[in-house]
Formats: sequence, structure tokens, C-alpha cells
Amino acid sequence: MPQPPDTLNLRVAARRAIADEVVELELRSIDNAQLPGFEPGAHIDVHLANGMVRQYSLANYQPAPDSYTIAVGLAVASRGGSKHIHESIAVGDLLPVSLPRNSFPLDPAAAGYVFIAGGIGITPIMSMVRWCEMSRTPWRLLYSARSRQRAAYAEQLAALGGERVHLHFDDITGSFADLDNYLAKLRAEDQVYCCGPEPLMQAVGRAAAHHPASHVRFEHFSVVPTDAPSLNHAFTVRLTQSARDLPVPADISILDALDLAGIAHPFGCREGLCRSCEAEVCGGIPDHRDFVLSDEERAANRSIMVCVSRSKSDCLELKL
Ligand code: FES
Repeated sequence: MPQPPDTLNLRVAARRAIADEVVELELRSIDNAQLPGFEPGAHIDVHLANGMVRQYSLANYQPAPDSYTIAVGLAVASRGGSKHIHESIAVGDLLPVSLPRNSFPLDPAAAGYVFIAGGIGITPIMSMVRWCEMSRTPWRLLYSARSRQRAAYAEQLAALGGERVHLHFDDITGSFADLDNYLAKLRAEDQVYCCGPEPLMQAVGRAAAHHPASHVRFEHFSVVPTDAPSLNHAFTVRLTQSARDLPVPADISILDALDLAGIAHPFGCREGLCRSCEAEVCGGIPDHRDFVLSDEERAANRSIMVCVSRSKSDCLELKL
């Protein structure tokens, strides 16, 4: 399968079981050369031998990295991504990965950060905590997991952060973390960053409702299936660069319509999570259905994730 440009072929230099059903991979270049740098919160696309492309956050922030570290939790309903990594990836294997991209950037101007992580959602937070330590920026963390055995990096974080790290294990308390209490003490200048399962992020959204929305940010790594009826309708995509009009029937995505027309467009997750398929909007009204655009970006309507988002207008113009 042809690889997209800017693909790095990295070697699995180490593989470690760091918690129940969580495996950590350390990826290095074949000649151990320095790798392109990345910001805290960044992720890479990992191209798997089974044809899947999966996004994993980089856990090892360092200004000049010589390795990328990802931690992969075995998803209960894995469609082949995490299962393949757990069962088939070994030390010495070569993995094609993308350059790092960041859909969950830290606002470097924040006076302090409040991190909330659930389960494997700790991986981007690990990089953020490391950046805060290097830049001497105040932070605190609530890390919630079903049990201590399932909590990757818990010991490291406790050693690093001391009292700034609050670990919560559901099996010990018999209940979920008390988010209302944890977020009641937010200072006006605090910025909240949360990554974890969807129910946790929804609960954080409710508990932080008193805080400015621009100061509460989320990273989604899975999509909750919904039974809601599809409200899709057909529309036309006008490609302004190539002067073509493509019909997009109700039952396919813009990305699929491009593919059917023989137009190669980059993509990764196909779930509105990774930003790989972002396209510039020149006209029309997008119907945003992704999980990566901020509220401001969504309102500006300047770009769209063509894997999931659609159009509210009969014609949507894209700079393609
Ligand atoms: S392919 Fe990941 S957001 Fe569209």
C-alpha cells in the first residue's frame, strides 16, 4: 500500500506492559537519529499491517525527541487497532507513522492547568505534565481509573507530582471520582484539559459549567455509538480548485464521494477524531460532526472534517 508523504518508518525499540491491558511502545528511527519535535498533546497516525490507521497520543514530551512513546489500551470492542498492536507488534518491527500533529494543544499563556484523565486518556496528559514541569508552570491532575492495576503511569505521576496528583480508583471507593468537588476550586485563570472515556468527559463538562467554556478543553479518542436516527440528506460538493461538482448522497460521506470520484484525500480515523481529512471551506454552511474543532473554529466555518461532517446548505464549496 503506498504510504502518504511525510511518513516516518520507525522501529519498535521497546515494548512494555505498563498496566493491565495497556502496552507501551517506544519507537525510534532505524539509525537512532533525532525525530521531529512535537508539542504536548500531539499524536501520530500509526499505519498497521492490517491496513488500519490509528491515532495515538505521544506520552514522552521532550524538546528534541529521539523516540516517540505511545501507550495502547486494549479496547473492549476493538475493531482491529488495539488488538493488532497487543497481539502482533514485537520489538524490531517497523511501523510507518505520520509526523506528529496536535489537535489538543496547550494554551501556553495559561497561568495554571488542571488536568483530568480517565484510563488510557492519560497519554496526552503525560506529555502535558512533562511540559509543565520543564516550563515550571503550575498544574494539578485528577487521574481516574477502574483500578490501580489498570492505571498506566500512576506511579510515575505520583512520584513526579506529589500532592498535585490525585489518583482515584473506582474499585477502592466503589464510586466515580467526585468531579464537582475537584473542580469547585478552579481559579479564574485555570485552564482545564480532559481526556478519557466519553461519560467522564461529559461529567467534567457539567462539573466545569461554571468556568468559561474557552478554558475547558477535551480530547476524544473514541466515538460513542448512538441510536439516534440519521438526519443525513444529499447535497453537492463544489471543488473550487478542480472546478468539479460532486453529488454526496445521504448514505455516504464527503470523503467517500471524493474517493468514488478518484480524488485521493488524506484521512486517518474516519471518525472525526484526528483532523487528518480537514478541508478548507469556501462557501456554503457546514454541518460539523467532528470532535476536534473548537467552538470558535466551528462558528467560523472555515474548515470541515470531510470524513464525518456534512452540509446544511444544498451546495458546499471546498478548496480542493
Ligand atoms: S479522518 Fe480523522 S478526522 Fe477525518
